[in-house]
Formats: sequence, C-alpha cells, structure tokens
Amino acid sequence: MSLASLAFPLARPLLHALDAESAHGMTIRALSVLPASAPSPAYPGLAVETMGLSFPNPLGLAAGFDKNAEVPDAMLALGFGFTEIGTVTPKRQAGNPRPRLFRLPEDRAVINRMGFNNDGHAAALRRLEARKGRGGILGVNIGANKDSDDRIGDYVKGIAAFAHLASYFTVNISSPNTPGLRGLQSRAELEQLLARLNAERARHSAKPPMLLKIAPDLREDELEDIAAACGGGAVDGIIVSNTTLSRAGLRSSHAGEQGGLSGLPLLQLSTRQLARMFMLTAGRIPLVGAGGVHDGPSALLKIRAGASLVQLYSALVYQGPGLVRSILDCLAAEMGRRGEPLSSLTGRDAAALAHQGSSGT
Ligand code: FNR
Repeated sequence: MSLASLAFPLARPLLHALDAESAHGMTIRALSVLPASAPSPAYPGLAVETMGLSFPNPLGLAAGFDKNAEVPDAMLALGFGFTEIGTVTPKRQAGNPRPRLFRLPEDRAVINRMGFNNDGHAAALRRLEARKGRGGILGVNIGANKDSDDRIGDYVKGIAAFAHLASYFTVNISSPNTPGLRGLQSRAELEQLLARLNAERARHSAKPPMLLKIAPDLREDELEDIAAACGGGAVDGIIVSNTTLSRAGLRSSHAGEQGGLSGLPLLQLSTRQLARMFMLTAGRIPLVGAGGVHDGPSALLKIRAGASLVQLYSALVYQGPGLVRSILDCLAAEMGRRGEPLSSLTGRDAAALAHQGSSGT
C-alpha cells in the first residue's frame, strides 16, 4: 500500500473540513513532495494494447486533477495505468472567481466551474521536460484560452508544444465552463478543427495518438455527427465523457451551483452515451469511458458499454488513492474468473446499455 493510501483515512476529515479547492491544493502539494517512485508494472491480466500504446492496466486519472503537470509520477505510482495532465491553454489563465469547486457528499458528486485555470503551456512544458525519460503513459489535455480570438489556433499550439512529450493528446472541446467552447462539437467546426490538428501533427516526427473528449449532454443527431467526423482516422480515440450540465435527482445543498457535474450522478448518462458511441462507430474507434467510475463493477460497466480504457476523478475525492488498487484488484479477479482478456468484454453490453433510459441521469 502506498504512503498516500495509508494517509488518506487520517487526512480525509481534515481535507473535507476545508473548502474543496483548498483541499485539492493541499493534496497536490502533499503528492508533489512524496519520494519519487516508478510507474506501476503491468497488472496481471489487465494490460491493454490500444492506439499503438501498451497500457499496464486500463484505469487512468482523468483530466482536471493535475492541471499543471505537478504530480504525474505520484499518480502513476498509485497504480493508475495512465495519467492525463491539463487542460492546458497556451497562456496562463486565472479561471473563474472562487468559490468554483463544490463537493456534494450526499450525492457522491462534484460541481466545478473552474474555467481552465492553469499555468499555461510553458510551465507545464518545463515540468514535463524535467521528468522526461521516467516512463509511464502521460496524456496532455489541450484547450483554448477564454479570450482567444483563434480558438482552433490555440489547440494547434498545444499539439506543436507537446508533440515530443505527450504519450497521447486529448482535445477537450467539452468543458461547460468556457463560453462557446462546446460549439466546437458541431460537425462543420469539428471537421475543421480535426483537419488543422492532423495537419499540425503531421509536421512532427513524434505523432502521439489524438483523442477527442466529448460532453455527455449531446443529442443522438449530434453524437452521429461526431462519430462521422471522427471516422476515417481523423482521431485515434474518443473520451466519453466530460462533466454534465444536467442536475437530475441531486440532494446536496450545493446542487444549484453552476458548472459541470461529475461523480456518481453522471454514471448512467455518460455510460449510455459511451454505449451509443460504440454502436455508432461499430467498435472501430477506441473509446475511453469516464463519468462516475467509483468501484470495480462501475469500471467493468464502462468496458461492457464499449470502453477500452477507463478514467476517473471525482471518486478520489471521497475514497482516496486506495481506490485505484481496489478497482484493479476487482477487475483482475473478474478476468481471472472468466479466463479471457479484458478486451474481449469491450462493448459486450453496448446494444442494451445504449437504450437504457432516455434523458437525464
Ligand atoms: C474536471 N474535468 C476536466 N476535464 C477536462 O477535460 N479538462 C479539465 O480541465 C477538467 N477539469 C476538471 C476539474 C474538476 C474539479 C473535475 C471534477 C472534473 C472532467 C473530468 O476529467 C471527467 O471527465 C469528469 O469529471 C467525469 O469523471 P468523474 O469525475 O465522474 O470520474
């Protein structure tokens, strides 16, 4: 068990007595002073080959936790099979005024309206240069500055800056906290964006795979458009999903806060959208399932809905870093019982899950 996992049960009451953003800042500082350790070796029976990368296991840290690339190695040492830094924007950006991050404990959820607060490309680049050669799969999640007059140009700058360091890119066009950003999900804009990004990628000798991260709040026709724009090799994978604007069935006092909702209430909606995307792409584009993963069965559900890989963030707030090993142990036990590789489960229940419920979470 890692030091961080041992410390969490003691630290949690203290962290949760603080406002959510201060607690997050303190967690990042604590993780950044842990002694450096190596990324985890492949987990027995859970290694995944996809998008030209060899993942030691399918569970990754979702974007937003380590926005500025301060603790990628600490997160990999906790057992994550991959970690994703960002969203980073070309220029440093303060984000929205505080408070902008809220715990919803009764709902096991989080609402955030951070607004891409980050130190900018140059700072993240310095940190990633400093850890070069340490190994582990590290994704770079790229976005656009709020005041940019060329949003597509900002994403292009992301590819140019990090092509030599990123294991993969995530193109985040689904944050609800930058006005107008989600408009890039419309077919014409998306095709233009992807064409520009692929042209930029072609200019570099390293060509990391490029994933598109989409919102869970898309209608069926919008999902169809995205599936069409992503075909023909325009992207290497799709992350389903970012946070939701929906607020169905919440009990916590912060339920009325503006921003994106994540955690348990997002599980059903994001899993249904994942299954729909798997059906629309006929399983031809690798998918990453994110939204409400909080234990082994929910991780397995994502895989059965169509995911080759899974990511989480919000559940860490409530369960701490020991969650990573407990999910992996559960997946490994399941695969041991079945005697088949994890990949054979991908999409097995997609048809059924794509039709579960019709709207909301
Ligand atoms: C996020 N998420 C996010 N996603 C992204 O692409 N770029 C970002 O900067 C952020 N920032 C961010 C901040 C906070 C506080 C949260 C809780 C989430 C979304 C995240 O990566 C993930 O897609 C969703 O949170 C759904 O997963 P969970 O949290 O339900 O496991």
